[in-house]
Amino acid sequence: MPKRLLHGKIVANEYVATGIKRLIIEAKELAELAVPGQFLHLRCREIGADPLLRRPISISDIDRAVGRLTLLYKIVGKGTALLAQLEADEWVDCMGPLGNGFALRGEKPLLVGGGMGLAPLVALAKALCPRPTEILLGGRGKEELFWTEAFASSCQNAHLTTDDGSAGLKGTVVDLLPQLLAAGGYDSVYTCGPRPMMEKIAALAKEYGIDCQVSLEEYMACGVGACLACSCAKTNGGRAKICLDGPVFDAEEVFG
Ligand SMILES: Cc1cc2nc3c(=O)[nH]c(=O)nc-3n(C[C@H](O)[C@H](O)[C@H](O)COP(=O)(O)OP(=O)(O)OC[C@H]3O[C@@H](n4cnc5c(N)ncnc54)[C@H](O)[C@@H]3O)c2cc1C
Ligand code: FES
Repeated sequence: MPKRLLHGKIVANEYVATGIKRLIIEAKELAELAVPGQFLHLRCREIGADPLLRRPISISDIDRAVGRLTLLYKIVGKGTALLAQLEADEWVDCMGPLGNGFALRGEKPLLVGGGMGLAPLVALAKALCPRPTEILLGGRGKEELFWTEAFASSCQNAHLTTDDGSAGLKGTVVDLLPQLLAAGGYDSVYTCGPRPMMEKIAALAKEYGIDCQVSLEEYMACGVGACLACSCAKTNGGRAKICLDGPVFDAEEVFG
């Protein structure tokens, strides 16, 4: 997969919810190459050594017609706080598109995501059109409802769970999933989110005999397979580099 290192011009860097921003970057070359599930490795500051490492953020929308990529990111520490300070018409140093994305499989897909794990699924849902795609999304409370808007044009149905019960079913996506898998007729499950959540989703998909792809996250350094920082165990006894061999894997490759 060809990769590019370039300066993308920022079109917008705006809040979509408390602590969560949408970064739209004009980067024609990257938009031409990118596929859902891949990520950009961003330098959060142009000059200076802190933070030294780039930060990986998933591509959550690809607009090839106008040459733009959209990222959705949560401000959690120094790197993302610096990203949040960037303004329209400034430039951001982007390496990408990195990693292997989702394989578009199945005629009736179900996407399952929690929290910021929903970010890559937005681009995936769009790419799966016109398949009758559904999304099961989980969050803390109704303040995270902006996610349902992000999937409104590409998903036929949105099933919602919240920890506090302020919208949808009170509970987690894992509480609602068995019921959906039993009745929904899905032939493919795609998931991204916290690892324990994905492990349970993969086990349920396996129980129902449904193909499942998972997108893993790990701390990253180089982002291109050179440093082993992101290595993870495979079920066949080998090891994979999440930045290069993933972040998307067939669930059985990494969870059994
Ligand atoms: C392939 C990939 C795609 C990602 N896509 C997105 C995305 O679309 N949107 C988004 O908001 N975040 C995404 N992340 C997580 C994002 O990279 C981290 O939140 C970010 O690097 C934190 O940097 P920081 O300097 O702000 O925080 P730091 O000060 O470095 O860390 C603050 C906290 O963030 C958490 N964190 C840091 N790095 C990671 C990581 N790699 N994975 C999980 N948690 C981490 C840790 O719990 C840490 O305590 C992705 C991570 C990976 C590996
Ligand atoms: S981050 Fe260096 S090998 Fe993956």
